[in-house]
Amino acid sequence: TTHFQGKSLLKEIDYTPKEFYTLIKLAEHLKYLKQHNIEHHYLAGKNIALMFAKTSTRTRSSFTVAAVDLGAHPEFLGASDIQFGKKESLIDTAKVLGSMYDGIEYRGFDQAVVDGLAEYSGVPVWNGLTDDWHPTQMLADFMTIDEVFGRIKGITLTYLGDARNNVANSLLVTGAMLGANIHLVGPKSLQPSQAIQDIAAKYAAESGAQLLITDDLAAGVKDSDVLYTDIWASMGEEDQWADRIKLLQPYQLNMAAVKATGNPDTIVMHDLPAYHDLNTKLAQDIHAKFGLTELEITDEVFNAPFAKQFQEAENRMHTIKAIMAASLGNLFIPALPEIK
Ligand code: CP
Ligand code: NVA
Repeated sequence: TTHFQGKSLLKEIDYTPKEFYTLIKLAEHLKYLKQHNIEHHYLAGKNIALMFAKTSTRTRSSFTVAAVDLGAHPEFLGASDIQFGKKESLIDTAKVLGSMYDGIEYRGFDQAVVDGLAEYSGVPVWNGLTDDWHPTQMLADFMTIDEVFGRIKGITLTYLGDARNNVANSLLVTGAMLGANIHLVGPKSLQPSQAIQDIAAKYAAESGAQLLITDDLAAGVKDSDVLYTDIWASMGEEDQWADRIKLLQPYQLNMAAVKATGNPDTIVMHDLPAYHDLNTKLAQDIHAKFGLTELEITDEVFNAPFAKQFQEAENRMHTIKAIMAASLGNLFIPALPEIK
C-alpha cells in the first residue's frame, strides 16, 4: 500500500509535485510492460465507471484500454445513457455508483460535479476534463516531455492561444509544480484568472519554475523547448467562434512562431483534437463562414517531424493506467524519486 491508495485526481494539486512526478514515472514503467507484452493485471476483478457529459476520443479510449490491460471491467456511461443530469441528483448518483464500482472517471463541465462525485461515492474519482482542469492530460504531456528531453525540470513550454481554458490552467500549475518554465501567450481577455496565477506562483516559488503570462508572441516563444496549442473554442463554448477567431489569429502556431523560438530543437505539442486542415465537419463549417483553412496550428507544423502530438496522445493511455493502478491497484510503488 502507498499514499496513492484510495485517492482521487480531481485537479493536479491534489498530489504533491513529487507524487505527480511518481505517477509519470510509473506510466513510463507501464508503457515498457505493455511494449514487452508483460502482463500487469493490477486491477483484476475491479469495475470502473466512465461518465462522459462531453464527447471524447482519447480520454474514453485511454480509460477503456487501460482498464482492460489492468484486468478491470470498464463501463461507459454517456450523458444520454444514465438518469443523472435529468431525473437523478448528483448525490444519489454518486452513492449508487460508489456502491457498485471501484473507481469513477468523470468528464463534464462544472468542477463541482467531479468534486461532488468524489465526496459522495466513497471511491476514487478521476477528472477526465472539466471547464477548469485537465489533469490526466498533464500526466501525458509531462511524460512526453520527459521522454523527448530526458527531464522536465528547466524545460520551457510556451502555450499559444486560449490561455484561459482548462488546458492552459493545468499547464501553468503543473509546470510550476514540476519546475518547468511555463509561458502562456494570448490576448489579455484570454489569460488565466488571478486565482489560477496565484496557485501557480506559490508552486513556482518552491520549484524555481519561471512563469510568464503575456500577449507578446515574440517575447513568449523566445528560447522555448516546447510550443503547445489547443483548440480556440473549448467544448461548451461553440457560440464563441467568431470572437475567438478575431482574438486569436495572431497567436497561431505556425512556422514563423517555431522559428521565433530561436531554438533548432523545439518540439510542438497539442492535446487534440486539432483544427489544422479541412477534413472535419467543424473545419468545413468554419471555413464556410470565415474562409479559414487552418486555425490554432498550421498543417505544415502539425505534420512536421518535430510535432509530437501522437506520441502525447498514446501517452494518455499509459498515464491513465498509472493513475488507476496507483489509486486502486495491488502494487508496490517505490520511494518517490527526486524530480529531474
Ligand atoms: N485530449 C483529449 O482529452 O482528447 P479527447 O477529447 O478525445 O478525450
Ligand atoms: N480545451 C479543450 C480540450 C479538449 C481535450 C476543451 O475543453 O474542449
